[in-house]
Amino acid sequence: MLDFSALVYASVVVLCSAGPLLKHRHEENNRPIIGILTQEVDDDYMKRFGKTYIPSSYVSYIESGGARVTPIRLNQSLAEHEKIFRSINGLLLIGGTANLETSDFAHTAGLYFRLALEANDVGDYFPIWGTCLGLQLLTVLVAGENLLSKTTAENVAYPLNFSSEAATSRMFKGFPSDLRKALSEEPLTGNFHHYGVTKETFMGNEKLNGFFSILSTNVAENGAVFVSSMEGRKYPFYGVQWHPEVNCFQWNPRYNFPHSNNAVHVSSLLAQFFVNEGRQSSHHFSVVAEESRALIYNYNPVYVGNISSYEKCYFF
Ligand SMILES: *[C@@H]1O[C@H](CO)[C@@H](O)[C@H](O)[C@H]1NC(C)=O
Ligand SMILES: *[C@@H]1O[C@H](CO)[C@@H](O)[C@H](O)[C@H]1NC(C)=O
Ligand SMILES: *[C@@H]1O[C@H](CO)[C@@H](O)[C@H](O)[C@H]1NC(C)=O
Repeated sequence: MLDFSALVYASVVVLCSAGPLLKHRHEENNRPIIGILTQEVDDDYMKRFGKTYIPSSYVSYIESGGARVTPIRLNQSLAEHEKIFRSINGLLLIGGTANLETSDFAHTAGLYFRLALEANDVGDYFPIWGTCLGLQLLTVLVAGENLLSKTTAENVAYPLNFSSEAATSRMFKGFPSDLRKALSEEPLTGNFHHYGVTKETFMGNEKLNGFFSILSTNVAENGAVFVSSMEGRKYPFYGVQWHPEVNCFQWNPRYNFPHSNNAVHVSSLLAQFFVNEGRQSSHHFSVVAEESRALIYNYNPVYVGNISSYEKCYFF
């Protein structure tokens, strides 16, 4: 595993800190709103509460970084989604079980992905973060095909095996060096997945390899080496196969959620990092009343701690 030397880090960061897009910095937006795309409910018992949902841990995670959340419902018209896109400062794609090609979740994510590409291309900064299934979905959207294979790491916490590119990455460069070291040695990242993109597949796919750089890998239960963290080379798009939101916001004792001081620190810094990306977006709702109606504060989460790995979920 790579140990970041402060010296190496300081010298390379000057050479390759930013792609062309990252130079377009707006005046900081200190009231960022992150959209979280709802996802179809898979669990039969939970379907009684609604057709789509967002676990409250993702909402709390974004809020912990200093932003507000607006849930994005599926099945709205293109015009409605375009309006939402112009009103929010970033998009979070949650983990879960939705089909990566045929679900409404995937279709709607694809729509925002294309809007974000176009926006960033003209200097309109718009970050996207994908967690677990969200990372997987980003790889499908970039590659134009499903490259997933079995990389089971179910209910297990790992340290990250950082790539050489991690030292200069936007995602990790704000981390104190002792925390980066801890992240490479201690099991601070909770994994709950059966599929992923192997390092070999990733490196062998020109579209994927050209779009994202691999920041870390891990070894699955079957020995496959999978991509565990990645960030866009040119675009402010980020993906983690693990779950930073569980460290602070999920507590079911049957699951290996990392709760150590270092684990909480990692989660907080990544939430702050992504929200800070959102601060560079100047999108906003056209009227305050519309903003108020769109925020998550209009909804109450439901207690599901006795029937799922989540304590609370928002249903729509
Ligand atoms: C979206 O619309 C399709 C087609 O009308 C429907 O089958 C599906 O259940 C809807 N999904 C949601 C989440 O409302
Ligand atoms: C970490 O990744 C490097 C390649 O980037 C590999 O050589 C090494 O064996 C990996 N270590 C572990 C513990 O998986
Ligand atoms: C879970 O808890 C809720 C709220 O206390 C209760 O209404 C529900 O019946 C419980 N469900 C199960 C399956 O135990």
